[in-house]
Amino acid sequence: MTVRIAPSILSADFSRLGEEVRAIEAAGAEWVHFDVMDNHYVPNLTIGPLVCEAIRPHVQIPIDVHLMVEPVDALIPMFAKAGANIITFHPEASRHVDRSLQLIRDSGCKAGLVFNPATPLEWLDHVMDKVDVILLMSVNPGFGGQKFIPSTLGKLRQARARIDAHVAAGGQPIALEVDGGVKTDNIAEIVAAGADVCVAGSAVFGAPDVDGGYRGVMQALKQAAR
Ligand code: DX5
Ligand code: ZN
Repeated sequence: MTVRIAPSILSADFSRLGEEVRAIEAAGAEWVHFDVMDNHYVPNLTIGPLVCEAIRPHVQIPIDVHLMVEPVDALIPMFAKAGANIITFHPEASRHVDRSLQLIRDSGCKAGLVFNPATPLEWLDHVMDKVDVILLMSVNPGFGGQKFIPSTLGKLRQARARIDAHVAAGGQPIALEVDGGVKTDNIAEIVAAGADVCVAGSAVFGAPDVDGGYRGVMQALKQAAR
């Protein structure tokens, strides 16, 4: 299993977003990670469906929309229309988790749940068949550039065991994504713990090549993960 890298554009140059997403795709990024913050569920404010629509024509790879918003549902069809491929949300932020997951799938996107460091995996118990992505936060959501919380490794192993058991019982495949503080010096243990998609914001956009591309750091991340 080779790891997929999802650079978080939270750390990109927002004045040149089109160029930045083209550069990460050219450097081998598998997904574009798109952090949506509402200054309510998290103490920061970022980008919405209009920006998703603006970057959509610049890349072929999936846009992975991470909703850090409360409430959740009204934004789902808007992001689907804006070209999102994957939409994940925090279960605490939705009154009706099952309905939100279904709404994402009905709008033609892959659906996922996001777990804060202190959010238990039990939220998965009755919705495994409706989840395409499990995203474990390895920092508290709201800001890029934070330090990886080590207890995420044990939680990753637990999530991996849940997914493997689900698939062995005939269930659909589920991606296991990790978000926050992923760097070249810890990606190996993160992947060994079971992650197959790694979000990396500051690690990627903070290490441009001399030509402004990101081939060097993307290669370094993938090599370290092997
Ligand atoms: C945090 C965001 C992350 C963040 C990751 O709330 O969800 O996607 O951008 O940034 P780094 O990789 O810098 O921790
Ligand atoms: Zn994120």
